[in-house]
Amino acid sequence: MSLFRISRTFLGSPLSVVEARRFVTAMLSGWPEAEDAELIVSELATNAVRHSESGRFGGRFTVSIQAEADRLWLGVLDEGGPRSPRAFPHHVDGEDGRGLMLVTELSAGWGVTGDDKGRIVWAVLELLPQPVVWQ
Ligand SMILES: Nc1ncnc2c1ncn2[C@@H]1O[C@H](COP(=O)(O)OP(=O)(O)OP(=O)(O)O)[C@@H](O)[C@H]1O
Ligand SMILES: [Mg+2]
Repeated sequence: MSLFRISRTFLGSPLSVVEARRFVTAMLSGWPEAEDAELIVSELATNAVRHSESGRFGGRFTVSIQAEADRLWLGVLDEGGPRSPRAFPHHVDGEDGRGLMLVTELSAGWGVTGDDKGRIVWAVLELLPQPVVWQ
């Protein structure tokens, strides 16, 4: 069951990462998972701009949020390219390679679909059960 699904496309520039964060915050206002979702989308959007063809002049990336009964699915569609996302556990103390490690820590899981023409890097957050309040 999908409670809602919403997508927004951004220009592939570093400034758009801030807009993508705001988009997530606005869509998930009041949700306990909003902060984690914002951090995850920030890392995935930064990667789309830095490592995929979305970062070339005129490139774009699309952020999607899908809320289901017990989980939140977050996806960033990029414009592909020769490189593929991969986490570097051994680079955890280094300058780079922390983004996807953070996504690993914050999410219940993440993955990649697509190919050099365009990839979706997605992550899932499990929703905290909310207490039922009887009025
Ligand atoms: N959307 C993407 N398209 C292509 N390659 C990607 C994408 N996202 C990540 N990668 C690859 O996976 C690697 C790991 O990504 P990660 O976010 O963990 O580290 P980083 O972006 O290199 O550094 P940091 O996020 O710490 O600034 C990247 O260096 C890049 O090679
Ligand atoms: Mg990164």
